[in-house]
Amino acid sequence: MSSVSTLSLSLPVVWKCSRLLVLGGTGDAVKFVQQFVSRCPQVEVITSLAGRTAQPQNLQGKVRIGGFGGVPGLAEYLVATGIDFVVDLTHPCAGQIKQNAFLACQIACVPYLLFCRPAWEPDPTDRWIPVDCLEAVPSALPSTAQRVFLTTGRQNLAPFQNLPHLWFLIRSVDPPTIDIPNSEVILDRGPFTLEEELALLQEHRIDTIVTKNSGGDATYAKIVAARQLNLPVVIVQRPPLPPAPLVTTLEAALDQVVSFFRGDCSNSYTRKTDRAPGH
Ligand SMILES: NC(=O)c1ccc[n+]([C@@H]2O[C@H](COP(=O)([O-])OP(=O)(O)OC[C@H]3O[C@@H](n4cnc5c(N)ncnc54)[C@H](OP(=O)(O)O)[C@@H]3O)[C@@H](O)[C@H]2O)c1
Repeated sequence: MSSVSTLSLSLPVVWKCSRLLVLGGTGDAVKFVQQFVSRCPQVEVITSLAGRTAQPQNLQGKVRIGGFGGVPGLAEYLVATGIDFVVDLTHPCAGQIKQNAFLACQIACVPYLLFCRPAWEPDPTDRWIPVDCLEAVPSALPSTAQRVFLTTGRQNLAPFQNLPHLWFLIRSVDPPTIDIPNSEVILDRGPFTLEEELALLQEHRIDTIVTKNSGGDATYAKIVAARQLNLPVVIVQRPPLPPAPLVTTLEAALDQVVSFFRGDCSNSYTRKTDRAPGH
């Protein structure tokens, strides 16, 4: 007859109430969650959104919406909700939440993994004008600029409010929060094809493009279209990343998070339950 200890040893390890927090707001987060849920159905997934878009894309698992209240608020949330792991799939240009999440995870002793897709790199024929921040865009616009295509997001339009000599084509997912004189707004969500971008730029006689260096394929077509039409692109560079474990592909992010929850010996993360008491 088997003893109790033999029986318990032969049972598979099941992590009760394992919870993953996904910092989202991107198509990458939607794809990640979809694939993660199919590989680790026993883990509860909570995706956090800032609440910037009126109709977020469909997400599997639970969704929470709104800021946490800075580093202390997020640290408190991690502990109170019993989060075991945080994977950050926010947009590469969302600098504040990444710094906050990195610090909050340190405070709460929760492992943190950062996904950041590689930045776009200029082709030798590209006419890029790099700037460090949105506020620097107006003074970096070429003197030839008259009709400008703005794709920096509806909440980033303030620097363009007082430029009455320019006409703007603004593309955003939801309507802009402020009114820009001399502008037309197109509501649309990527991905966009090269043919669509070429047609849009030509139809509106665009002579200059303003974009963030988002990286990825979904919105890259406008960069290729600008190249083909020999248009200047004022490109806002990304904010610095926190010194966290970093992956640059969704596959790598999935592998690391799945391996953490499966308790693979090869992963370098520490489970809260593995920590010494008091830590
Ligand atoms: N920046 C872009 O170009 C861009 C483009 C596409 C999508 N997005 C998405 O839009 C969201 C906001 O972007 P942002 O540039 O305004 O961010 P941010 O400057 O890095 O963050 C500003 C504040 O918004 C809150 N926040 C941001 N992301 C959050 C999330 N996923 N869940 C809960 N709270 C969040 C945090 O508020 P508290 O301090 O109160 O916690 C944060 O301090 C991000 O989630 C990002 O993925 C951004």
